[in-house]
Parts: sequence; structure tokens; C-alpha cells
Amino acid sequence: MATLPDSLSAKFKGSFAYKTVKDRIPSILVKVIDVLARSYGKFKEDYGKEGVEEAKGVVGLLSGLRNEMQTDKPVLPLTDSRADVNLWNRYLEEVRAVQGSQPSWFTSAWLYVECYMYRRIQQAFEASTMLRTFDPFRAQKEAGLLNSESPIQSLASYVQQATQDPASLSQQDIHKLLNQLIQVNLWGNKCDLSISGGSENYQKHDPIQQLASLKSFIIVDQTDQIWNRINQPKTSKRVDLVVDNAGFELFSDLVLAELLLTTKLADVIHFHLKVMPWFVSDALRGDFMWTLDILRASSHAAVSRYGNLWHGRVKDGTWVLHEHDFWTCPHDYSKMEAVAPDLYADLAKSHLIVFKGDLNYRKITGDLKWPHTVPFSQALRGFLPTALCTLRTLKADLIVGLEEGQAERIESEAEEAADWMVSGNWAVVQYCDQL
Ligand code: F6P
Ligand code: MG
Repeated sequence: MATLPDSLSAKFKGSFAYKTVKDRIPSILVKVIDVLARSYGKFKEDYGKEGVEEAKGVVGLLSGLRNEMQTDKPVLPLTDSRADVNLWNRYLEEVRAVQGSQPSWFTSAWLYVECYMYRRIQQAFEASTMLRTFDPFRAQKEAGLLNSESPIQSLASYVQQATQDPASLSQQDIHKLLNQLIQVNLWGNKCDLSISGGSENYQKHDPIQQLASLKSFIIVDQTDQIWNRINQPKTSKRVDLVVDNAGFELFSDLVLAELLLTTKLADVIHFHLKVMPWFVSDALRGDFMWTLDILRASSHAAVSRYGNLWHGRVKDGTWVLHEHDFWTCPHDYSKMEAVAPDLYADLAKSHLIVFKGDLNYRKITGDLKWPHTVPFSQALRGFLPTALCTLRTLKADLIVGLEEGQAERIESEAEEAADWMVSGNWAVVQYCDQL
């Protein structure tokens, strides 16, 4: 096999990885410390003085972590008692062996050290007894949903209206609706809170109305291949959604899942969620269930109807929620079959896997410095449990599957020129069912 490109890394000065490790992730860490410090009163109420002492302990650990990061200290083995510790520590050993030196924040792969930061945040909470399940990003995620009320209402009304008599929908109607909801879902990925350094980033426009003006920003659009796959006669009508962010993006995932069921393109949807707070806005099971509760309690008829319907879907098993340590480990997806064979085998039962968002894209493609024209299938490096697609707005300087000259053309036309690959303004829908 030909040698693979280098990993994206902060060792390349001026790259987005460099900026992220130098400025963006330390500032996320500062915000976590801030959230804790502002919650001392609440901890005192809930757990008494000991709760405050524990929170201060976590703050101390996180301040130490920030210092390690900013002074480019070696990546340390994990020491808590979570089940994934060995996996992480083995990974560290492997990197050390390959790199021939001790991995560190500015010399190792960006994907590794960025994931490691979130795992170390969790380790700091694991050191406490009362705050182990505290999610420092919860308030931001909740605000992300609550501040998207208006686009949520218009999307709910639109889809309810369009699907009120599913039996009367022609193939063409269904195809059109699927295209629309895939695009809504795609642009929902713009609203994550990691790219904005944890600052507000909400869906502000009517999600259906904005589609026409955004169309030309989808630089690879293989939606038709998704349609062909999902519309073909099949034995398994299971679709898997590897979920990314809570807030409006998650709502748009749910709407897409609902369309697949209502139109009988699928008969069961499996959602894959994170097991620990991750890249600020990624959805945990608790965020998922909280979202359904908020929707159910809405005074907007279509929104509450969907909230109730979806709550029922979780109960009756047409929606299945999964969590797996692999989604919060440092490995890219080419390693899934070896590292998490149970997850790989389970995904292989699906008819289509939909990977949401930028981080999933980085993990699918290995976060390598690929030439932009490398075919998507090649960048998968053997990862294909079943047909898969990715819906991603570009928030990392990594893209594959472009035509010769396309990246250069976009760069010369884009308003944000040099930053077009990280602005979230451009997007891809890429599909693969054959390597
Ligand atoms: O912080 C860097 C980063 O990985 C970006 O590449 C991306 O903006 C974000 O985190 C995660 O994005 P998403 O929520 O789309 O996976
Ligand atoms: Mg995310």
C-alpha cells in the first residue's frame, strides 16, 4: 500500500490544527473552569461544602491540564477507572513507538490531542465523587435548542404538513422531501459550539427557505446516490445515524429519521450518541432525552406532536439509542474493525450509516493531509461496514473527493478566501458503497 499522507498536526505552524491547539482548545478549557467556578453556589446547595471542595479540586486539575497543553508537555497516560483507560494508554504506547518520541500537544496528531483534551476533562471529573456526571457544556447545549425555537417550529410545521397523508406521496414527492431534509440536516451542522469556541452559535433562519441560497455552497453533492441506496428493495431497512451536535442539529436529525420512517424508506433508526461530554456540543443520551421532553412540552402543536411521537418511538424500539466507548476514543474509523469489532459488526447490519458533522469526517478520513482530489472511497482506507454517507460542513482544513482545480477555484471565489475550509460556510454530502 502506498504511504499515507502525514496527520494534520499543530506541528505545522499556521495550520488550523496549530491555531486550535494554541488558542481554540485552551479557551474552551478556560470556559469549563469558568462554568465550574460560577457553579460553586449550586454545588454548595446540592452537596454542601464538600461539593465546593470537589469542584475546586477539578478546577485545579483542569488548570494543570491547560498548563500542560500550553507548554507542550508530554501526553500523560490516563489514570481513572473508566473502562476505556487501557485503550487510551495502549494508543499512547503505539504513538510513542511510531513517533519515536514522547507524544506531546504540539508535535502529535491533532485528532489525537484534541480528543485527549476532552477525555482529560472527563478524568478531572472522575477524580471527584459527586461531580463525575457533571456536564460542563450542558447549559450551552440547552441554550442551543431553546434559542432555535423559531426554526424548529417552522421545520416541524413544514414536515407535518408535507407528510400528513403519507400514502398519497409520490416517489417524486418523497425524493424531493428527502433532498430537502438532508440539506436542512447538513446546514444544521454549522451550529456546533466547538468551532465557535463555545460561544453562542444558533440556527437563525427558516431552515427550508434558506436552502436555495445555500445550494451552491455544497461542493460535493451525492444525495442522489443516497436516494438510490435508500430507495432500493432491501432486506434490512435499518438506518444508523452517528449523531453529532445537540440543539438544532439534533432536531434536524430527528426530523430526517422521522421522514425515513413515515415514508417507509426505513423501519428502524439506530442513533449513536457519545458517552461523555465531547467537543462541547456533541449529544449524549441525556441531551437526546431532554430534547424530546422539551419538544413534548412545547405549546406549538406540530413540535409537541413530534415530541410525543418520538418519545413513543424510543419506547417502542423503532428508535434505538446506542452508546459506545469507541466514539470517544482517539482512533480513526479505519481501526474500528480491529479495536471495536462488536460495534463494526453491529453497524454492518445496517442498510445505510449517516455520519454527521466535521469530527466524524475527520475520523472517517483519518485526519490526514490528503490531496483534495483523492477519492472519498480511498480516504476511507478500508472502513466500510455497509454503505455510508457523510453530511458535513467544513470546519477543518481537510477535504477529499474534489475535482482537479475545484479547491483552487473555491479559494479564489470565497469571501473568506484562506479560511474557506474552516468557516462552516461550505459543505459536502459524500457517499460510498464500494471501496
Ligand atoms: O475544534 C475543532 C473541530 O474538530 C473542528 O474541526 C470542528 O469545528 C469541531 O471541532 C467539531 O465539529 P462537529 O461538531 O461538526 O463535529
Ligand atoms: Mg460536534
